[in-house]
Amino acid sequence: MFGPFELFNVFRYCGLGHLSLPGQQFRSRLQLRRWRCCVRDNVSQIVYIQLHIPERAPLQWIQERRIPVRWPNDEQQSDQNDIMHHIFNLTLDGELFLAPIGKHPQRVLDVGTGTGIWAIEFADRFPSASVIGTDLSPIQPSMVPPNLQFEIDDCCEEWLYTKESFDFIHIRLLNGAVANWSSLYAEAFAHVKPGGWIECVEGNPITSDDDTISPDSVYHQWNQVTFDGGKAYGKPIIRSSDEVKDALSGAGFVDITERRFKWPIGGWCKDQRLKEIGIWNRLNFEQGMEGWCWYLCTAVLGWKTEKVQMMLAEMRLMLRQKGVHAYNEVTFIYGRKPPAKVSADG
Ligand SMILES: C[S@@+](CC[C@H](N)C(=O)[O-])C[C@H]1O[C@@H](n2cnc3c(N)ncnc32)[C@H](O)[C@@H]1O
Repeated sequence: MFGPFELFNVFRYCGLGHLSLPGQQFRSRLQLRRWRCCVRDNVSQIVYIQLHIPERAPLQWIQERRIPVRWPNDEQQSDQNDIMHHIFNLTLDGELFLAPIGKHPQRVLDVGTGTGIWAIEFADRFPSASVIGTDLSPIQPSMVPPNLQFEIDDCCEEWLYTKESFDFIHIRLLNGAVANWSSLYAEAFAHVKPGGWIECVEGNPITSDDDTISPDSVYHQWNQVTFDGGKAYGKPIIRSSDEVKDALSGAGFVDITERRFKWPIGGWCKDQRLKEIGIWNRLNFEQGMEGWCWYLCTAVLGWKTEKVQMMLAEMRLMLRQKGVHAYNEVTFIYGRKPPAKVSADG
């Protein structure tokens, strides 16, 4: 079992792709990758305990050890991850993605897999595919389909996979975790097969169509805090899907398509399906918002904990105001790498 210091090294050295640890030298990146996979299961308990926010456990851990994650990865946040996955399922009527990847993808990568719930379902539905889910946090279960493997990896570092080896790369809810999207998409482009697909899925700020969010509403404060905090943290929140589309196209992807879906917040919609999504989305906020904002507000923006608590209390009240027709949109953007050109002589 690893202690805190070793855990720090696991992230510092292995998470960042170095080929040596104190007392351990790797001959190749492949050897390092294998070692990372075996370490994954051993460190899970420790990471689980230490990446918390103050009420749940000391935040200082994140700062002192410089583990580059702005969200906690404890049980509360993992539950929220799975609630959000359920809302995605409702949104797509049980489908897992929109890109037309065909019936028989062979190699699939889920970047920043979180609890791995998307990757697990994908691997179950496509037993012939070999699926890899990566994350900085080893919070994924160990009982998974045989065609799925989880790895600790920092997606913002150089990717170690064989170039042009994936049929499909899936990136969901990494907004605020990435400093340089162009370089992330460039890695994805280099590693997807010619003709293969990428799909990027992100949420957007809280808004309304009928001015039921008053100008002094805590929802505006919330949007601003996540934006300012992300910017100051060096991993800004992308607010416009045009930015994603431009970056994908800049990386070389073509046939870029966007679909947007409204997620009401609370059960205010008459439409039964949207009402159900709204009730789940309110739970999503109630479960997740403390973890989403705590690090940004306290460590990055320098707020006192009381101020954060006040905002969260106001948010909790606002989430249950029936007359406020708030929603946030989720955006699915997918594109493909141009197919390989067939030369004139075949
Ligand atoms: C909001 S969760 C989304 C999880 C999953 N994609 C989903 O949609 O269910 C974001 C995840 O990204 C991971 N993450 C953040 N920065 C990362 C990085 N640089 N490399 C890999 N994973 C990262 C976090 O640890 C967290 O599990």
